[in-house]
Amino acid sequence: MQTSNGVKATAQANANIALVKYWGKRNKELILPHNGSISMTCEGLFTITTVEFSDRYERDLIIINDEELKIEEDKSSSLPFAGARVKDEKDILGHLERIKKIAGIKEKVKVVSKSNFPVAAGLASSASGLAAITLAATKAAGLNLNQKELSILARQGSGSACRSIFGGFVEWLKGKKEDGSDSYARPIADENYWPEFRIIVSILTEKKKKVGSRAGMAQTIETCPYYDGWLKTVEDDLRIIREGILKKDFTAVGSQTEYNCLKMHALMLTTKPAIIYWLPTTMEVIHNVVSWRENGLECYFTIDAGPQVKIICLKKDVPEIKKRLKNIEGIKRIIVSKSGKGVRLIDKPRT
Ligand code: DP6
Repeated sequence: MQTSNGVKATAQANANIALVKYWGKRNKELILPHNGSISMTCEGLFTITTVEFSDRYERDLIIINDEELKIEEDKSSSLPFAGARVKDEKDILGHLERIKKIAGIKEKVKVVSKSNFPVAAGLASSASGLAAITLAATKAAGLNLNQKELSILARQGSGSACRSIFGGFVEWLKGKKEDGSDSYARPIADENYWPEFRIIVSILTEKKKKVGSRAGMAQTIETCPYYDGWLKTVEDDLRIIREGILKKDFTAVGSQTEYNCLKMHALMLTTKPAIIYWLPTTMEVIHNVVSWRENGLECYFTIDAGPQVKIICLKKDVPEIKKRLKNIEGIKRIIVSKSGKGVRLIDKPRT
């Protein structure tokens, strides 16, 4: 790791949507997953984050989408850094402390972060947010990390963020080592490889979800009787989707993505208490997608830890699917995304 004298840096990262989901941690502190996952980095769903370390600041300040994140003392934390902690699910200040420790700096931090899509509503906002903050903060702290190092570090902020370091189709290798040094993302194919592939995001609500993915995963591991079945079959999902991407076999990728999503939601539904992310409109979109497909319009759905339905389709079918989605009551917004670039530094914030 080379160092230089960075002070302030801005990074832009795209969100990613998982085709094979990450669900469950074998190590909560280092964020090591029980299973590998595959995602598409999504063009147009992004977060821009500026990080500045300075001794001019008397306290840490984190502003996300124009709102200051409340920072409180958390003496109960088992993590190895002292002082104030951000009491949010993703512990953003803890992530910044981690980066400060690596860089050997002690200054206070100011973070300004903005996403162009609903945050914490099952739209992978933590992936783009933590990927952007990782690159901006390491640069500002004077570290020059390569993509693998960035992925390992971003993973410790939020698991799915390790995939947003790369563009295109990306696989997060679960790894075996206890220190997490072999648990990082790597590209399967870059953002220009499969230009016809699209994900249509239908946003049903912009409200924050009640159960975050972090808590939901922990609850699954503790209480779901079917988690073993997930682990036994996920390797097949990974292989089929990895090979499907490389062969551009849309049917293989779409159908296995839908199946993997339903398996993950089956876990969520069978925890105690049950975690039910779906709204009535979520079901409505699911049934429509299945019936459109039966009638020759090939598309598949996937859903993360929230109610939004993401529809996987080919470019030629986007206008027809958008037209049909507009007829479903309860859909607030539609965003069409193709595969986009990995995280990068930018000169100045653009919103
Ligand atoms: C359902 O990456 O948000 O979107 O590692 O606890 O921060 P933490 O979880 P996070 O979980 C994402 C879960 C998912 C599936 C996925 O993106 O793979």
